[in-house]
Amino acid sequence: MGSLDGKTCVITGGAGSVGLASARLFVAEGAKVMLVDLREADLKRASDALNSPNVTIFAADVSKSDQTKAYIDATVAKFGKIDVLFSNAGNSGVVTPIEEYPEDVFDSVVAVHIRGAFLACKYGLPQMNDGGSIIITSSIVGVKGDGGGACAYVTVKHAQVGLMRSVAKGAARRGIRCNTLHPGPIDNEFQLNIEHGIGKMAGGIDATKMLDQAIPLHRHARPDEIAKSALFLASDQSSFTTGTTLMADGGMSA
Ligand SMILES: NC(=O)c1ccc[n+]([C@@H]2O[C@H](COP(=O)([O-])OP(=O)(O)OC[C@H]3O[C@@H](n4cnc5c(N)ncnc54)[C@H](O)[C@@H]3O)[C@@H](O)[C@H]2O)c1
Repeated sequence: MGSLDGKTCVITGGAGSVGLASARLFVAEGAKVMLVDLREADLKRASDALNSPNVTIFAADVSKSDQTKAYIDATVAKFGKIDVLFSNAGNSGVVTPIEEYPEDVFDSVVAVHIRGAFLACKYGLPQMNDGGSIIITSSIVGVKGDGGGACAYVTVKHAQVGLMRSVAKGAARRGIRCNTLHPGPIDNEFQLNIEHGIGKMAGGIDATKMLDQAIPLHRHARPDEIAKSALFLASDQSSFTTGTTLMADGGMSA
């Protein structure tokens, strides 16, 4: 028996590194999974990789309300009411001093992380079963600052904690839990782009090595390790855990 047997799960950013690793684990645990991401081609590749009748895909921009309603409705039509809502889509913006930070980039990071998570909760909650679980992927920079170059990303990852706390208290009357998941640096393309930016801003240092030294476990996370933390929050293993910030950061925030 899987820990998500028969559960309907939505994963945004589902074609990406953490989203796909989580989908793989959730399906192995018996879930029916809706993958939501921006581009149909990326979703198709993710779905082919999972190769399961319990996976379906929907191309949507999570920052748009009509598209959010559409992916929620499509999930319910295909699999029934939602048990697990994993708001995980993300963009990183740029790494540059705040004085030079482009306003349009700042707005785009706000749109995906804050508005995207807000819309997921706003339109997802009415279509969720009581007793369900909402997970929002924040970051280690949702609880502490960075070196000063990723002000938009740090801002939105903190804001997601506020949203989570508000939703957790409101949805508790229905037994629906809401938590944020806070990965440290992950060994993937998304993080590598950020590290190139940090390296450039700091005069050409190897930011990947620098971070490995700063992480007590001395390495980046693998996407499947973050997926295991998501599974904990998705499943009944965390039945009394709500309104909390789960760190999966190799000890970096300790
Ligand atoms: N990679 C890391 O080290 C790291 C660390 C902490 C937190 N995170 C967070 O983890 C989450 C997943 O990131 P990842 O590492 O898998 O990166 P990723 O780039 O592989 O996945 C992110 C996915 O989100 C999708 N996306 C972006 N904007 C979207 C939008 N408007 N609508 C729908 N989909 C959109 C992208 O297409 C991509 O597939 C993000 O929220 C990210 O901020 C990542």
